[in-house]
Amino acid sequence: MQNVTFYQEAFTSHLEGFTKKREPATLYNPINYILQLGGKRLRPVLTLMTADIFNGDYKKALSAALSIEVFHNFSLVHDDIMDDAPLRRGQKTVHEKWNINTGILSGDAMLIMAYQLFENYEPETFQALAKLFGKTALEVCEGQQYDVDFETRNDVSIPEYLKMIEYKTAVLVGAAMKMGAIVANASENDQDHIYEFGKNLGIAFQLQDDYLDAFGDPKTFGKQVGGDIIENKKTYLYLKSLEFANTIEKEYLLKLFNEKPIDNLFKIEQVKTLFLTTKSAEATQKEIKNYTNKAFSVLDVLNISNDKKELLKAFGNQLMNRTI
Ligand code: IPE
Ligand code: IPE
Ligand code: MG
Ligand code: MG
Ligand code: MG
Repeated sequence: MQNVTFYQEAFTSHLEGFTKKREPATLYNPINYILQLGGKRLRPVLTLMTADIFNGDYKKALSAALSIEVFHNFSLVHDDIMDDAPLRRGQKTVHEKWNINTGILSGDAMLIMAYQLFENYEPETFQALAKLFGKTALEVCEGQQYDVDFETRNDVSIPEYLKMIEYKTAVLVGAAMKMGAIVANASENDQDHIYEFGKNLGIAFQLQDDYLDAFGDPKTFGKQVGGDIIENKKTYLYLKSLEFANTIEKEYLLKLFNEKPIDNLFKIEQVKTLFLTTKSAEATQKEIKNYTNKAFSVLDVLNISNDKKELLKAFGNQLMNRTI
């Protein structure tokens, strides 16, 4: 077992070789751009770490880790088009730097490359990885579609929201870990448990992403703060705020989310104030902890050493307290 920085560095040097010069540059430059912008590398680190946790060799999991990260970056390029987002990792989004068509095709190419990376595995492992990947990728699309559909709905429930974030975000975190377990030939039971751990951590992660989208520091967050509010995203913050609001607050929040604002900054400020006064910000923090603890409780049934469990817990706690 190694620490997080070790896996991050192992992954980054593996990525170097992947983003070599290819033609046409107009297709591959945006791919290199987004992959080299960095990011937390959360998912590939989890893949490598999980391979080691189940006594495999993290090096054998490098292609799977790369596949997951390339897929993740594909989803970000298309997500930024769908969310009309100007900033990603502190830099211009692909469709802002180039244009929407470039974002679409470079994104498509990344999705294909993500599949191709499984060709580096023997047939049995290939099949298991490709099967998990196909299921997960389709769920991410379903989650993304719910997310967009919810923008124009006023009756989204908390269970619907939770299902949406499970699909758009959490299943990929679960799959990232399960792939590490598959490469390490872990038992099916262990594969399923580590998937559940990752999925619950992923739900906590998306709740935290929603929280930071409103309350993050623009200097560290790397994305446009208030972007979800501008886009009328039905986040946990929003849904809990509606639930806790008095009649006047509720009317005002609904009005803010159903009118085209003259001034986006004013809307963001008003909505954030409501998130605080209705105590939905507090409730969101509590829910982040709930899902992190739910992930931790899955560790009890895993057949791994306490040291390894502690490492996974430290990782989860770090994620819960992140600012980026
Ligand atoms: C952003 O993912 C998209 C979400 C699912 C919230 P990350 O926060 O992992 O993005 P990077 O890769 O670190 O930039
Ligand atoms: C991202 O959700 C989910 C996927 C990219 C599939 P968000 O739209 O919240 O992600 P960010 O905040 O733009 O990174
Ligand atoms: Mg987005
Ligand atoms: Mg989105
Ligand atoms: Mg977000």
